[in-house]
Formats: sequence, structure tokens, C-alpha cells
Amino acid sequence: MSRRFWVGGNWKLNKGTGAAAKELAQAVTAEVGGSSPAEVVIAPPTTVLHRVAEVLLGQQAVGSFAASAQNCHSASSGAFTGEISPEDVLDTGAQWVIIGHSERRTIFGETDAIVKEKVTAALRAGLKVCACIGETLEERESGSTKDVVFRQTQSLIEGVAEAGADAWARIVIAYEPVWAIGTGKVASPEQAQEVHAWLRGFVADKVSTDVASGLRIAYGGSVKPGNCKELAALEDIDGFLVGGASLIAADFAVIVASGSTKSHL
Ligand code: PGA
Repeated sequence: MSRRFWVGGNWKLNKGTGAAAKELAQAVTAEVGGSSPAEVVIAPPTTVLHRVAEVLLGQQAVGSFAASAQNCHSASSGAFTGEISPEDVLDTGAQWVIIGHSERRTIFGETDAIVKEKVTAALRAGLKVCACIGETLEERESGSTKDVVFRQTQSLIEGVAEAGADAWARIVIAYEPVWAIGTGKVASPEQAQEVHAWLRGFVADKVSTDVASGLRIAYGGSVKPGNCKELAALEDIDGFLVGGASLIAADFAVIVASGSTKSHL
């Protein structure tokens, strides 16, 4: 089954003013251009989500750009100070949400159970979801990478199942080894491909071979113009979730272009 290359730019807590966000979003669309076969998703801070969505929606005729939230809550409304609902994310014009990023898991205490609830709620609301998983350095060194990513994926599988089987079409899994995020240490092509292949096999086993062969599994963790080509060429890498390099439009465009030979497989 063909898997369209998917590249997400996670701006994290950067470019949160209207002017800065608009400038970067415009620069990204200009650098990536209209002919990219990849699906490009930009996740700015919530304060500027509607502005970035507006810039990207204006570009849809020429390319495939969409805005994404970096997180959302599982409830639609209520006494949840500081949170944003999946429905409110959609209302900004964004179509995607990133859920379970390792910074949410480690700094903000999101457990597999919380991530699962959020995945279900976001999908039910009609959002597309980039769900993140990945092991810490300690877990890798102790040989438990497979156990950790399978446990996290099992919980995603349960979350998607609660939203309905057709929700798989709206999921991208981002495998991001925590030790490679923002550290400049990238997983070797062998390490990345190995985990991606395990994950596809796990989904085939637990869900179906059809879902597994259509599922996009993106890699994240210090993806840069200098290493993206080698990673993009790997059989089970269907895209990237990019942090630091997504803040530089020209670098991000090189990363998007690295998947161009794969997008119409
Ligand atoms: P990085 O971040 O590219 O800066 O390592 C990736 C991410 O956190 O998604």
C-alpha cells in the first residue's frame, strides 16, 4: 500500500507571536513550494495556531499544508484550567494534533493512559493525530526498547480502537527515541529502521496487515538536512517529526524534499 511521506514541524515553545509565526509559516510554504508530494504539517504554539492555519489554508491549492496543535485535552469542555479541547483545536482551522510527545510525557507527566484518552478524544472530534512514542537512553541501554515502544503502541492501538476502526486512516505514529530529541544525536539508520519494522509488525499482529501496511511511521530526533536523506530512504520510514530544524524554513524544506522519491510509491 502506498504511504504518502509525512513531515511535521514541531515549533515547541518558539515563534509564539503573531508576527514571528506568520513570517515563518510563509517562509516554509515558499521554501517547500507547491509541488512537494509530501504532506506537510506545522505545529506552532497554541497562541498562533489560528494564524498559522490561516496562512497554510491559503496555500492548499498549491501544496499540502496543514496546521497542528502540539497537544490537547481529552475533554470537550469543563473545569480544566489551561487546557484546550480537540473541538477548539479544529475551530482554529488546524486539522492535526500531536499527542504524547516525550516532553509531554516526561515534563508534564502524561502516562500511557492519558495519551490513550487524548488519542481517542482527538480522533472522535475529527482531528488527525500524530502520536509519539519512544524509549529513553536508560531504557535503550538496558535492552528494553522493544518492550517500551510495544507498550506505548498497544495503548495507542486501544485508543484508536475506541474511536472506530476507520480512525487508523487519520493516525501517524512518530517514533522518537528520547535520547535523540534536541540532543544532536540521531538514531543510526539501522537503529531507526529496526524499530520502525518492529512497530509495523506489531500493528500487523495486533490490528491487521492492511492497517500496518498503510500506517505512516515517522522518525523524530535531531533530523537535519545532513541526515534526512539516508533516513528517508529506509523502507519503514514514512516521514519525520522535526523540532529544531523546523524553525529554519530552508532546512525544513530540504527535509520535506528528502521524501520526494517515496511519496508516490
Ligand atoms: P528535534 O526535536 O528535531 O529538535 O530533535 C524533535 C521533536 O521533539 O519532535
